[in-house]
Amino acid sequence: MSTLETLPSEEVYTLFQKLVYDKLGIHLAKQKRMMLGHRLLKRVKHSQVNGFSDYFRFITNPDNSNELEVALELMTTNETFFFREEKHFEYLANAILPKINPNREYKVWSAASSSGEEPYSIAMLLNEHCPTPWSVVASDVNKSVLAHARKGIYIDDRTKLLPKKYRQTYCVKGTDEFEGYMRVKPELRKRLHFFYFNLLDNMASLGKFDLIFIRNVMIYFDDKTRQKIINGLQKCLNKDGYLFISHSETLHGLEHSFELIKPAIYQRTS
Ligand SMILES: C[S@@+](CC[C@H](N)C(=O)[O-])C[C@H]1O[C@@H](n2cnc3c(N)ncnc32)[C@H](O)[C@@H]1O
Repeated sequence: MSTLETLPSEEVYTLFQKLVYDKLGIHLAKQKRMMLGHRLLKRVKHSQVNGFSDYFRFITNPDNSNELEVALELMTTNETFFFREEKHFEYLANAILPKINPNREYKVWSAASSSGEEPYSIAMLLNEHCPTPWSVVASDVNKSVLAHARKGIYIDDRTKLLPKKYRQTYCVKGTDEFEGYMRVKPELRKRLHFFYFNLLDNMASLGKFDLIFIRNVMIYFDDKTRQKIINGLQKCLNKDGYLFISHSETLHGLEHSFELIKPAIYQRTS
């Protein structure tokens, strides 16, 4: 491949944009062409095809669905950390949990969980503060980050964001080849269920939740996709249930029946 082909042409980039939009709902802006080239170049070389145009043809051939999956995973941004946007966690502990129905299980869904830091943070907090039995399920469209989440092994530095008490109670230090890593203890790990789910798909089979975290993912979608997802989420929330979006996101401009309770916190009141 010549050095000129470290970037897809504008025409080929349009094909990738449509593919990523159709499969993941992710809207790749015009100026992301360099990012796409950068993320996919290794795969273009690895697949031994002659540039981005051929790579596009390769991954859209049904015989190469594994490579399509790899390419799509490379289009997702998986940045996350423990207790990210801690105001949500404070609100959950101080305002929501003290008032929940004492007669049934409290159910939470982390709807774009990435490598697991978000759902493990939720689970640690529930284990400390939830007065009823609880469950946390977590999903993502990227199978590699889900595998990471199930293992629950994190570079030590990243777990420093955990409150000290939680770190001591719920994590163990790695030894030998795991020196420098922390692992979420099995007692907590086994309480979570991680599963593949594409937010573009029908949510009806997922059941109902009391709280849904859908944070730092809708920024990648356009209004049409956001609206479709919000329609689905409304049906997945129990009455009085809460929806947490990121503080950098908004439901402004979308039709919904949630009540805005606080910045980035919505409730299904009807
Ligand atoms: C930036 S991470 C957010 C992680 C976590 N919610 C947080 O706020 O820290 C965004 C995640 O959304 C996932 N994602 C992107 N498109 C998706 C889709 N269509 N369905 C489900 N997950 C998707 C990505 O794989 C990625 O792991």
